[in-house]
Amino acid sequence: MPGTMSEVAVTILPEAPADAEAVDRLNERTFGPGRYARTAYRIRERRAHLPSLSFIARIGTLLVGSVRLTPITIGPAKALLLGPLTVEPPFRSRGIGRTLIARALADAKAEGHRLVLLVGDAPFYQRAGFTPIPKGQVTMPGPVDPARLLVHELVPGAFDGVAGMIKPDWEI
Ligand SMILES: CC(C)(COP(=O)(O)OP(=O)(O)OC[C@H]1O[C@@H](n2cnc3c(N)ncnc32)[C@H](O)[C@@H]1OP(=O)(O)O)[C@@H](O)C(=O)NCCC(=O)NCCS
Repeated sequence: MPGTMSEVAVTILPEAPADAEAVDRLNERTFGPGRYARTAYRIRERRAHLPSLSFIARIGTLLVGSVRLTPITIGPAKALLLGPLTVEPPFRSRGIGRTLIARALADAKAEGHRLVLLVGDAPFYQRAGFTPIPKGQVTMPGPVDPARLLVHELVPGAFDGVAGMIKPDWEI
């Protein structure tokens, strides 16, 4: 039906410096102050996300969604940590979350990255090709529910033999 919200065009763009404040506010509204206690944030507070591999969704001038990728290592292997992923509540269930993930994965692959990890709900992320990491193969610098630690191979076999502690510290 013309004029319904689902007909409104969504634009996905790399995150620009001017977007950072709006993205931070969106994440604060979504996850609250408790987000700083999450293990994934312990990594993200020590290493900035990559703006070129972080994306925002806009409807008109309104920022309605965001996903960020942060460089990590797992033992000697390089990888990317996906998150936070957030979509403004009135704009959820329109495919924006899925589209943000797909764009981030496609651009990461095009830049030669091989692996993407995240901490999140498997039922949601499995649709984007993430699978649970066997318990104990990878450890985080803090508590995490092993069922929520997921991996996506951008290159088939890229996760073979990868194991160890996730750290936030590689430079590119
Ligand atoms: C998760 C989130 C980003 C999804 O955004 P979105 O734009 O609604 O995503 P999509 O439209 O692509 O997909 C929505 C579908 O995923 C489902 N879904 C959303 N969160 C889910 C979850 N945690 N587990 C299982 N399914 C989930 C929705 O029910 C919806 O199903 P439908 O298509 O049958 O209606 C959004 O709900 C959000 O911001 N949630 C709060 C923050 C959060 O939990 N972020 C992820 C953790 S890192």
